[in-house]
Amino acid sequence: MRESYPFELIALQYEYDALEPCIDEETLHYHHDRHLQTYVDNLNKTLKDYPKLHCMNLPTLLVNIYSLPDEIQTAVKNNGGGVFNHNLYFSILRSPREDNRPSGELADSINAKFGSFEGFKKALSSAAVGQFGSGYGWLVTDRHGKVSVMSAPNQNTPLGRETMPLIPLDVWEHAYYLQYKNKRGEYTENFFKLINWEQVEKLYKNRENFFK
Ligand SMILES: [Fe+2]
Repeated sequence: MRESYPFELIALQYEYDALEPCIDEETLHYHHDRHLQTYVDNLNKTLKDYPKLHCMNLPTLLVNIYSLPDEIQTAVKNNGGGVFNHNLYFSILRSPREDNRPSGELADSINAKFGSFEGFKKALSSAAVGQFGSGYGWLVTDRHGKVSVMSAPNQNTPLGRETMPLIPLDVWEHAYYLQYKNKRGEYTENFFKLINWEQVEKLYKNRENFFK
């Protein structure tokens, strides 16, 4: 998988029906094959005539967005954010589990911040459901492993020198409308069954590499 220009569509690590009944096959096809592909194509189109940027990976482009040429900043923010956020979203999902919780150091950090796993679920759900229009609810961590929840509009990404994204809860209508229509809350509730906590814990444990 290439990490710089030309960017490629990531392959899913599971079958298209693997997330059913929480996310159905048709939704996953549209979301991954059409919407993510469009972000990838538009990002590549945007960067095509800027060879100096072709060696930069996506996090570097996004963190340094205001050092890029003015005329492509918005397109890189929207389409590069779209690629980064979706790559993370699709990589931290798996088939549904009823009692789906984190463990270890990440669970401790979540409990310290939110009081309990239920407190965390409530915080991330509220961030996602309350996001006006399109965007995401996010679980993020700082370099010390202190987690927090935030929301962000559009394809803005919380990537930063002091913030590492862990879980994007995509609440763009393309993520759920085919199946759930306007019931964003129901989709959000079901999303928690799909989180691949082992994968999120891996990211969390590797945060030193991210913050280097
Ligand atoms: Fe999406």
